[in-house]
Amino acid sequence: MTPIERFRAPQTELNFELYFVTEVLGLRSLHYGYWDEPKTIDRVDLEEMGRGQARFTERLLELVPPDVKSVLDVGAGIGDNARALSRAGHRVTALSPDRNHERYFAACDDPNVSFRRTTFETFETAERFDLVLFSESHNYFDRRFGLRKAHDLLRPSGRLLVSGMFRSEDGTAYASDFDVSEHPYVRMAAEAGFETVQISDITPNVLPTVEMIDRAVTEILEPTLRFAEAYAAARAPWKTRLFRVFLARDHDAIRRALKKLRRKTDPDRFRARIRYATILFQKS
Ligand SMILES: C[S@@+](CC[C@H](N)C(=O)[O-])C[C@H]1O[C@@H](n2cnc3c(N)ncnc32)[C@H](O)[C@@H]1O
Repeated sequence: MTPIERFRAPQTELNFELYFVTEVLGLRSLHYGYWDEPKTIDRVDLEEMGRGQARFTERLLELVPPDVKSVLDVGAGIGDNARALSRAGHRVTALSPDRNHERYFAACDDPNVSFRRTTFETFETAERFDLVLFSESHNYFDRRFGLRKAHDLLRPSGRLLVSGMFRSEDGTAYASDFDVSEHPYVRMAAEAGFETVQISDITPNVLPTVEMIDRAVTEILEPTLRFAEAYAAARAPWKTRLFRVFLARDHDAIRRALKKLRRKTDPDRFRARIRYATILFQKS
């Protein structure tokens, strides 16, 4: 695993989650895992999780039409999708605002993958792409803005491939027979000038990921934090008290991030309120 000291401390709740996944769990990918037969999966350990994530990338690449040459990978994480796209013969421009992610791309040294450290909002280029990929990134910027910008950055008839979580608009539970093609995002995409080519609800196929992360939070992260606090309090009670006074805000931020992560990875909540879908759109 890359030494933690080389990485910048997480600054935001999002960074905290991504940091936990890569630096604590040691996973080499930031997206969910995928299981063809999820019902046969019992308990996912870290190794199985890595295999599930590799399978997810394989399934995602199966959706890339054969005429696609250039890809804009928006919110590219630590580059496993970008590297797989390059191996499959595509030219990839990958972007992410996270400084830690830049290091993974620098290390990959692939002439077919270029990295830009920027948000999608501030990304500028004269290039027009065959495909724009939002792999678990479409919720990180305004959705309507994201769809319009993707439309602008595509060549005529270019494709937009979106893979990720779709929450119900009012935050309540979905009906069990909810059809993801009815989700407002699909309507919004049509308004932005996209036709739906293919749409799949893969919620059951990714669900073992949520169950595994939930266990990792309750069985690894929370006990470790409790241990660190108890150890510090026993070894250096005054320093611990001063730390709490002077860094109270950071302490609260960690607790908030942890609470958010717990909510996000609660398997029952996920099953009820989230649909995980892959959607291939074409610019009309
Ligand atoms: C959950 S990760 C998904 C990473 C990768 N696409 C994958 O499938 O493994 C979300 C990514 O979106 C990036 N991100 C966050 N805010 C963003 C923004 N405003 N514009 C572009 N990317 C953003 C994060 O830094 C991270 O790389």
